[in-house]
Amino acid sequence: MDFTLTASQSEVQSLARAFAQNRVAPLAREMDERGEMPLSLRQEMAVLGLLGGPMPKEYGGGGWDAASLALCYEELGRADSSVRGFMTVHTSLVSQCILQWGSEEQRQTYLPQLARGSLIGCYCLTEPNAGSDAAGMESTATLDGDDYVINGEKIWITNGGLAHLAIVFANADPSAALRTGRKHKGICAFLVPTDTPGFHREKMPGKELGHRASDHAHILFENMRAPATALLGGRGEGFKVAMAALDGGRLGVAAGALGVAQACLDACVDFARTRRQFGQRIGNFEMIQAALADIAADVDAARLLVYRAAWLRDQGAKATRETSIAKLFATEAAVRAANQAVLLHGGRGYSNEYPVERYYRDIKGLQIYEGTAHIQRIVIARELLGRE
Ligand code: CAA
Repeated sequence: MDFTLTASQSEVQSLARAFAQNRVAPLAREMDERGEMPLSLRQEMAVLGLLGGPMPKEYGGGGWDAASLALCYEELGRADSSVRGFMTVHTSLVSQCILQWGSEEQRQTYLPQLARGSLIGCYCLTEPNAGSDAAGMESTATLDGDDYVINGEKIWITNGGLAHLAIVFANADPSAALRTGRKHKGICAFLVPTDTPGFHREKMPGKELGHRASDHAHILFENMRAPATALLGGRGEGFKVAMAALDGGRLGVAAGALGVAQACLDACVDFARTRRQFGQRIGNFEMIQAALADIAADVDAARLLVYRAAWLRDQGAKATRETSIAKLFATEAAVRAANQAVLLHGGRGYSNEYPVERYYRDIKGLQIYEGTAHIQRIVIARELLGRE
């Protein structure tokens, strides 16, 4: 087995690491406090070629493989989960979804602009009454002449406040559920510019536990018209479009969680070397060593699972099970790592003078969004058992 990165994968890793450590990490605390990410960071990501990294060159991208994308997310996640989350939604959930399901006209219209960041994308699936049960969505798309008229409500839409382009999921045939017994059968996906009349958005109410620099929107569709040419994938294929996109998004979240776990390990090693108590560095104490060893083992295992899922995607294989395993394990490993990191830093870990309290708050989000840990277990179990 060869674990060596290729020259181009190493290049992406170095580029992302330099950007994450030099440009993102120094801003992370301020972004968390202000609750926003500066526009300049998004622009730099576009200029460096990160936003379009995995897009084919003919659409203005860098032609990265899935492993390179995972390496990029790992480095961004190590510096700041909100920045990594912004890119995962834009690139994995939106651009890659259009690449997989879009017509040639849709690809040419949107992908180059998404790659250079002149369009930002968001993915509108979650609703107040349809979180884990995504197929239970209540948004409707009613055919009227050549247009669909979309009504409904979406919540927790990352990038929703600033996006120019939305992938919107709505049910165009609610009666299909009765006819077929499968409630996802009427769902369609649409590509909708966010300046379309009837597209309304506002910031999510309340203050999030973590991911505070992310842009989370509450979106309302009021008689919003989308032409039939806006369909992404075929009529009634929307749920498959959503699930296939989430296979990519979840790999991004898994890689981001690996980055958070690595950041916890880095912070703990540094602190264990420098913090002195009882006349010696705390790293000399066996309980601290055990905590470090447990985090290191978790980080290594998470890394292998994330890289395996990426490698499988690069082989063109379906990697739904392996992606869910990677997301489940990496997010839970990072929760354990952040929990230990706050404890190991003692009182300092409880203050935002050190970044570990942010890791601790942010990582709970990764365990929830793009499919909770419960949903990942369901996906894995179904892949093992098959459907009855
Ligand atoms: N790829 C392609 N197709 C898939 C698929 C995949 N990974 N997974 C399922 N499908 C297909 C199935 O083959 C099935 O197709 P058929 O019509 O041929 O039968 C169809 O989709 C329905 O599948 P299920 O019967 O398994 O569907 P279900 O209703 O039981 O749901 C679920 C399964 C795994 C629970 C799913 O609902 C799920 O993943 N829920 C979590 C949703 C989630 O992650 N939400 C977060 C979104 S993030 C967001 O909106 C905010 C943001 O900004 C990011």
